Amino acid sequence: MTLYTDQNSLLKALLPYRNSKKIGFIPTMGALHEGHISLINKGLEENNVVVVSIFVNPTQFDNAGDLKKYPRTLEADIALISTLKGTVFIFSPDATDLYQGKVASKHFSFDGLEHEMEGKHRKGHFDGVGTVVSLLLKAVRPDKAYFGEKDFQQLQIVKKLVEIENLPTKIIGCPIVRESNGLAMSSRNKRLSPKQFEAAAIIHETLSEVNQKFKTHSIAQLNALVQQRFSKNNDLELEYFEIANVKTLKTAKHKRKGNNYRAFIAAFAGKVRLIDNKALEE
Ligand code: PAF
Repeated sequence: MTLYTDQNSLLKALLPYRNSKKIGFIPTMGALHEGHISLINKGLEENNVVVVSIFVNPTQFDNAGDLKKYPRTLEADIALISTLKGTVFIFSPDATDLYQGKVASKHFSFDGLEHEMEGKHRKGHFDGVGTVVSLLLKAVRPDKAYFGEKDFQQLQIVKKLVEIENLPTKIIGCPIVRESNGLAMSSRNKRLSPKQFEAAAIIHETLSEVNQKFKTHSIAQLNALVQQRFSKNNDLELEYFEIANVKTLKTAKHKRKGNNYRAFIAAFAGKVRLIDNKALEE
């Protein structure tokens, strides 16, 4: 494991890998957990070197409190990565090095994907994500970049970003890694009390029930079922539940043959915002 804190030294270190070797990339905001480790291990299996960026990107936060409280655990992250087998470069730049000037978002149009779900609830979020992922992909120039399906909307948007910007990187989506109670792994889980952690199991339980009932129930019935489940839970507040078309991410009101759907939840445990999603089988 080697740590780089500026783009120039990372670029120099990657030079020997540029031609015949493969470079994998896992962008993160740190506070690494098993979900990240599974992405890094997949990257190590498929490439000669893996770059893991650790950068808490200020432009994708619409809430100053959330940005301030986002866990920053660089030393523990380095120690965890050091236990892995394979060549890993950690890239942990400061904002002015990565942004090369003003730390601000560019505005993107991702064919409307950015206006759905998270886009409705976190203003400017996907402009911030698009800006930083574009900067990171241009700095690292990887063959493949790995993103978790927990942020399924982000994954679709990043695929659109590489198309729009004509970047050569292949974007790989990887399955969600879960805690023993089914909660999707997230750096934010570190901020949950033990009681909230337990209560948060309702998110995955609900998504699983929706999946089981998807064949036999209408979308209106499933919406009602989810609202009712959450109304009985005092520790979690549902922000949204949506069944959306996998391609457009638009809210589905009725099922249509030939379309694939996914169920999405965002909920608050106190001030901690959690998201999760599940593919629905017909
Ligand atoms: O998913 C994340 O951790 C972030 O949104 C990302 C992709 C690292 C961009 O800051």
